[in-house]
Amino acid sequence: MRNPVILDTDPGIDDALAILLALISPEVELRGVTVTGGNCSMLAGLANARSVLSMARRSDIPVCAGVSTPLLRPLYTAAETHGASGLGYAVLPDATHAHTATHAVDFIIEEIMAHPGQVSLVPVAPLTNIAMAVRKEPRIVAAVKEVIIMGGAVRVDGNTTSLAEFNFYVDPHAAHIVMQSGMPITLVPWDITRDVMLYQSHIEQLLAIQSPVSRFLADATRFYLEFHLSSFGVAGCAINDPVALALTFWPDLAQYEYVHVDVEHVSELSMGKSVITYVGDTTHPPRDTDITGFNRSLGKWQNVYRPVPNVRLVTGFDHERFIARFVERMMQLAMQVPT
Ligand code: RIB
Ligand code: CA
Repeated sequence: MRNPVILDTDPGIDDALAILLALISPEVELRGVTVTGGNCSMLAGLANARSVLSMARRSDIPVCAGVSTPLLRPLYTAAETHGASGLGYAVLPDATHAHTATHAVDFIIEEIMAHPGQVSLVPVAPLTNIAMAVRKEPRIVAAVKEVIIMGGAVRVDGNTTSLAEFNFYVDPHAAHIVMQSGMPITLVPWDITRDVMLYQSHIEQLLAIQSPVSRFLADATRFYLEFHLSSFGVAGCAINDPVALALTFWPDLAQYEYVHVDVEHVSELSMGKSVITYVGDTTHPPRDTDITGFNRSLGKWQNVYRPVPNVRLVTGFDHERFIARFVERMMQLAMQVPT
């Protein structure tokens, strides 16, 4: 049984890798790709999503334009990380299909409400579309199967400011709304994804297969690899977004803790910072006695303030096993899409 998935993206090199992984994964029924502003403008991201799908011969997948700018702040993009186009050095033919007329927010609502309890929503971008969907149709909170978000920096420095990860920094108000929404959130933070590294050796493996997929991966990641080397001094590139998608079908690759997360959306100094509170025993979903039992002792060095946990946080990940599987599936996709 294929799991219906909606990818909410800001394509973006690693967003494109998440789209490709969804296409080749038999566990996934990619219901659609929704787009917002982030790594590049929403319109550039929309064109990129359509071009990537067209390159992979999957113009049948709906691509929906979303909200272009963050709820309150001006759009902050990442050309230094993803290139001016958003896809590094990759140059793709224009898409052979128009984007879907349905707005991303409406697409997300309609899909979730039409298939209650079935749709996995995977936001790997600033959470603007998701926050708008929650505000427009609060019933999606109970109807969505799960929301697996790539975002936040919890116990490590941010990748955008010293405190904030990019997706939460770009639209901290949307991130705050989504964290507080009550949706069944799994959060994959930068803490985890910065160690999920693709190396040139993997790209060489893929280039052995003559395919537009291989060439795209090589050209897109070449820019991304150069950025990581010049900015972080590492010879690989963190493929953040495919990790969130993979947890819809390889959940056992990760370890989880149930915690409370909120996002700074007032102070400019700490804007976009994900603030975590560990409440009691974090190994299981919150039980009433864990929260209201004031006579219950605090966990080791835990603080007295104890909000109800609202997020299943990924605290460990088998990135080596994931990367091996990811490369294998990219090779499968490359073989499926001949030159
Ligand atoms: O911080 C990394 C995240 O921000 C990834 O989703 C990347 O594509 C950007 O959107
Ligand atoms: Ca992204």
